[in-house]
Parts: sequence; C-alpha cells; structure tokens
Amino acid sequence: MPDAIFQFPRGFMWGTATAAHQVEGNNINNNWAKWESEPGRIIKGQKSGLACDWWGGRWKEDFERARNTGQNAHRFSIEWSRIQPEPDRWDDEALNKYLEMCRWLYRNNMTPLVTLHHFTDPLWLVERGGWENEETPALFARYVRRVVTSLKDYVNLWVTINEPNVYIFSGWVSGEFPPGKNDLACAVKVAVNLIRGHAAGYKVIHEVQSEAQVGVATNYRSLVPARSWFLLDRPPMKIQDQIFNRAINDCLSSGKLNLPFKKVNIPEAAGTQDFIGLNYYTRDLVQFSLKDYASLFGRRFFPKDADLSPTGFIANIPAGMWDGLKWAHEYKLPVIITENGVEDHLDTLRPRYTIEHLHQVWRAINFNWRIKGYFHWSLVDNFEWERGWTQRFGLWGLDTTTQERIRRSSVDMYETICKENGISSDMVKRYAPEIFEKLFPAD
Ligand code: BGC
Repeated sequence: MPDAIFQFPRGFMWGTATAAHQVEGNNINNNWAKWESEPGRIIKGQKSGLACDWWGGRWKEDFERARNTGQNAHRFSIEWSRIQPEPDRWDDEALNKYLEMCRWLYRNNMTPLVTLHHFTDPLWLVERGGWENEETPALFARYVRRVVTSLKDYVNLWVTINEPNVYIFSGWVSGEFPPGKNDLACAVKVAVNLIRGHAAGYKVIHEVQSEAQVGVATNYRSLVPARSWFLLDRPPMKIQDQIFNRAINDCLSSGKLNLPFKKVNIPEAAGTQDFIGLNYYTRDLVQFSLKDYASLFGRRFFPKDADLSPTGFIANIPAGMWDGLKWAHEYKLPVIITENGVEDHLDTLRPRYTIEHLHQVWRAINFNWRIKGYFHWSLVDNFEWERGWTQRFGLWGLDTTTQERIRRSSVDMYETICKENGISSDMVKRYAPEIFEKLFPAD
C-alpha cells in the first residue's frame, strides 16, 4: 500500500496542556493546598508538593522539550493565589514569572493559550465563601484585568475558567474536590457565579485587548443510552447531558441558564464566547435505574468490552470525541480541543488512543468544521487532584523524587504527528500497528 496521510490544515495548533497547581509545586496559598493537608482527601495521602517544579524554574526545560519535539502551542494556567496572595496585595514578581513564560513561548514561535482559573482558589477568597459568594465574579474580573494587562503583548487566546462543570460537580455534588459538599442549591449558586465571573472576565479581556479570543474549556462527557431499544434509558441520559454538557455553554450563548429544576436569566452572559474549548476524555453508557436517584435515575458505566486505561479511569472510545466535536460545532464558533489524553504509565494505550482520537478530529476538519488546534493532556506527568500521583497523563514521565523526566515512546509519536502536521500510515505502523488496518483498510 502506498504511503497515506490524514493531513491537517496549515497553521493548526499542536500543543500540550498543563495547569498551575498540577505542575508548579509549592503552591501553599490556595484551597487545594489546604485540601491536601486534610486526612482522607487525596488518595494515599499524597500531596502536590514540588510537583514538576515549574515554579523553581523547570518550566523552561519542559517548554524546550515541547518545542524541540515539534509543538507550536502550549496551554497553561495562572495561579490566582500567587498574583493576589491577599485581597489587597498584588505580587508583581509572580506576574513577571508568567510574563517570562509567555514571552519565551512567543519568541519560540509557540502560541500561548492561557487559562485564568483552573480549579484552584486563593485561601482568602475561600474564606469569603469563594464562588458561593456573589461578590466573587467582580473580584475575579479585577484579577483578570491585572493579568491580561500585563500579558497582552504575548497572549491573545484565553480560557477564563477551566471546566466549570467539573468544578461544580466535584466540589458541590460528588464532594471529591474542595469544599467537599453535596448541596444542589449551592451548586446552582456556584454555577451562576461562575457564569457571571466568566462574563465579567470576557468583558474585561476585550476592553484591554480588542483582538482577544476568549472561551471556557468544557469537559464534554459523551453519553449514550445503555440499551438503544429501551426507551427508559433515554430521559436520564438526556437530563445528564443537558446539565453536564450543555447548560453552561448554552447560557454563554443565550444568557439563559436552563437546568431541569431551575431556570436563571443571566443576560450579561449572552454572546460571551469566541471559541469553544473542548476537553474530551471518554464516554459513558447511561442506564435507567430507580436506585440511582442521586444521578437522576441514570447509572453510568463503561461498555463491558471497553479498551480501558490502567486505572480504569478512561475507556478508549474515539466515537465520543466525534460526539464532542459535533456538540462544539453546533455553537457555530471556532473549536479548540483544549484537552484530550489518557493516564497510562505503561504507555501502551496512549499511542493508539491519541491517534484514534485525532483521526476523529481530522474527519471533522474534512467537513470544514472550524477546528483550530489540539492540546494533549499532558506534557509531563503531574498532580492529578484527588487521584494524586497514581495517574500518569504525561507524554514525558516524571520521577517525583529526582525530578527526572522519562521520555516515553509517545513523545516520538506526537512529535511525528506535529512535524508531519498529520497522521501518516508510516507513523501508525510504527507506534500503533494494532490499529493500522482500522485506519488504513487494505481495500
Ligand atoms: C482537568 C485536568 C486533569 C485532567 C485529567 C481534566 O478534567 O482539567 O486538570 O488533570 O482532566 O484528569
């Protein structure tokens, strides 16, 4: 068979994504540092600790690794508690470090995509009620103004809030994230305030930088009825889909937050996204179950024969990436895949997972959908929230005791994709021969 390639458009952004608390180390002034110090919160009592030591300067060597392996973009986040350690104190030295990172990327022809809020909140903010407090959106906007004013020469792609849906669900429904609550009324309050915060941030960013492109990154979970023939599986699936996948982005289009049990008008949120940020990892089946009233009568699980990641956290279901792209495309805005990846310390699943998901992205591009870039989660193993260090999402592995980076074979796989700007048959044969026939059928 002749060499073939699924070619991506010129100028496509190829990068990886990281987040401040997960890579910086020594973040001691936010709600996660406190959470990590409480018994029973993080698996095996693990802590973010020194993480990947980016704050100690190792960001540069990791950025160099990314650049040297063909990446032309990087998504990372700013830690609010470093910029504003106390309500009336701003730390310009901290801001300068981020400025240095942005400048480095810019000068090395890598497009920076900066996230302004990725799960963590300053302790002083949490003491005032955090996102349950309706004054928080304005406080967030003040912080955003400060950051954007200083980074604007090098950055024009901004994510205001990473995964508001996960932040709300994990903090106020399942309780795995701080503040560890299970309180639906509070969850709605937090949703409204996050949306207001995003809207205020959006306005400020555009005031400071007219050419800015601003969005949120949504964790899109593909959901399908467990039994296509059983009508009762559909309503719980639809309701979960509405609440988790759609409600927030819909509100950023229409200004109306439409939850099955509550409707809220937030007019200032209408039309406040310039692109859709899609974080896709996996798909669940949803089955009607009277027992599961807490999940609105829909039990979620992976298909029996699914291709699972080592800790069973992710099922490799590329069709779900297609669902996510379709969902994103329907907003009629450019789409950036702001996260996609798999925890796999063995690096046996990652190559085929990545290639198959990118193949779906290529398909969507061939429908002329406006997909602008792909950011693999993640550049190097980092602190996985309540799952601590037990899950390894990095292209590079990390030895947390020595800070040594371990070059996984996925580094070479991704480098080939970035440099060829596509998925070539040669590359698939080399890194994921088990899916070669599927992607390049003989006839
Ligand atoms: C989050 C990341 C996290 C990743 C893998 C996403 O939901 O944005 O912070 O590391 O999932 O668990």
